[in-house]
Amino acid sequence: MRVGVVTIFPDFVKVIKDYGVIAQAVENGLIDIEIFNLRDFTTDKHKVVDDYPYGGGPGMVMKPEPFFRFFEFYNQKYGKPYVLLTTPQGKRLTNSFAQELASKEHILIICGRYEGIDERVSHFVDEEVSIGDYVLTGGELPAMVVIDVVSRFVSGVVEEESVKNDSFYNDLLDHPHYTRPREIEGFKVPEVLVSGNHEEVELWRRKESLKKTILKRPDLFMKHAFDDLDKKALISLFKELMSNAQ
Ligand SMILES: C[S@@+](CC[C@H](N)C(=O)[O-])C[C@H]1O[C@@H](n2cnc3c(N)ncnc32)[C@H](O)[C@@H]1O
Repeated sequence: MRVGVVTIFPDFVKVIKDYGVIAQAVENGLIDIEIFNLRDFTTDKHKVVDDYPYGGGPGMVMKPEPFFRFFEFYNQKYGKPYVLLTTPQGKRLTNSFAQELASKEHILIICGRYEGIDERVSHFVDEEVSIGDYVLTGGELPAMVVIDVVSRFVSGVVEEESVKNDSFYNDLLDHPHYTRPREIEGFKVPEVLVSGNHEEVELWRRKESLKKTILKRPDLFMKHAFDDLDKKALISLFKELMSNAQ
């Protein structure tokens, strides 16, 4: 998958390529991330990218011309990407939206600053994306969040089994995880996890997953499509609750 990012702070964004799973994916050629400095597409001596808003008011607005020049350069060099504009007004980024984006071969992410970007740049945009209902100072963190979450759905980047067990996949939260030691300061790992009984482990994990989802995210629980393991796990959870109540 090819990912382009255009920003006035390329050094800020480029660290996304340097760490962990994303760095490995880049090294293995699964994702190609290229970051562009919008100021390289200005024509004046001071590389100005913002200007006063028509109609007055506070703050500055990102000028359209550097973006228009950038798109012309980019499309000619790499072909037409699926263009995402980071904005708090966009479609909320979720697991399923990220999965959709991961199916694109080529995306380009535009990072805004100041009060945002001149509205006419939206003619180049396929979809607007928001990472949540709050306003950040710029689109760089959202671009990095988009790259991170989308990469996890690119084939080969993360083990498929792991992605499927993570929170939000199938509208459930992940079960608790434990590692060595088996006991620390009196806190023990649940016996079932060291029992060697894979079926029991699977049932316990689903039960814990359902429990966490009911307690923390009942909205997800209501959307979850229940399978046979869920039904067994719910019975086991119910029995646990009853025996704790006695
Ligand atoms: C200060 S914000 C502009 C906010 C804009 N005036 C508004 O109220 O909708 C500057 C830039 O940060 C980015 N941004 C801020 N919050 C965001 C969010 N929640 N999701 C995605 N991008 C965001 C966008 O690129 C935006 O153009």
